Amino acid sequence: MRMTTKIQWLGHSCFYIESNSHKILIDPFLTGNPVAALNAVDLKADFILVSHGHGDHIGDTIEIAKRCNSTVICNYEISGWMESKGVKAHGMQHGGAFQFPFGKVKLTLAFHGSMLPDGSNGGNPCGFLIRFNDKFCFYDAADTGLFGDMKLIGEEGIDLAALPIGDNYTMGPEDAIKAVGFLMPKKVIPMHYNTFDMIKQDAHAWAKAVKTQTGVNALVPNPGDWIDLG
Ligand code: NI
Ligand code: MN
Repeated sequence: MRMTTKIQWLGHSCFYIESNSHKILIDPFLTGNPVAALNAVDLKADFILVSHGHGDHIGDTIEIAKRCNSTVICNYEISGWMESKGVKAHGMQHGGAFQFPFGKVKLTLAFHGSMLPDGSNGGNPCGFLIRFNDKFCFYDAADTGLFGDMKLIGEEGIDLAALPIGDNYTMGPEDAIKAVGFLMPKKVIPMHYNTFDMIKQDAHAWAKAVKTQTGVNALVPNPGDWIDLG
C-alpha cells in the first residue's frame, strides 16, 4: 500500500502532519520556542491536537485555529476552554477513540500536569494514538513519565513512536529506552529535549543505546525535518 502520511518534526513536541489532503498539527508551540523550525503564521491546519494545558504545548493553538478554522482535538476540559476563546473543539477522554476524517485518534494515559496558562483546570494530560486512514500508526506519548501500560499501547502495532527524553519534566533517556522496549514500534524519535538548558540531552547517544538495547531504529531528526517513515 502506498503511504500517504507524512510527518514533520517542528521542534520540541510539535508535529505537522499531512495525510491524504488533511493537515494536522500536534502541540504547536512555535512562538517563543527557541528551536521552532517555522513561524506559526506560516502554518495551516484542519485539526490541532493538544496533549495538555501547558504553554509549551498549547502554544499558538488559538491563533492558528482561529485563522484556519481548525478543530482542536483535546481532553474535555481543554475543549471547553478552547470554546470559551471562540475556537472549535472536539473533547475526548482517556481510552476513548473517535474516527476523524484523517484517521482514528485515541487518547492515551500520560503522567504529567495540565494546568492551562491562565490557571484554569486543564483536566488530565494525554498522549495520542493515531491510526491514519492509510493504516499508518503514530503514537505520540506527549509529556509523560514511564508507565507499564505502554506494553498495552504497543499491542496496537505502532509504526512510529515519539517519546520525550528531556528528563526533569518528563521521562529521561534511560526510562525512554524502557518505553521503547514496552512499545516496540517500528521506529522511534526523541522529542521534548534541547529546547531549554534544563532538558539538554545527547539524542544521538540515546538513539545508539535504543538500537543496542531494543533493536528498534531510533531516528534523530532536526527541527524542520520530515521523518523517514519508509
Ligand atoms: Ni507539560
Ligand atoms: Mn512540555
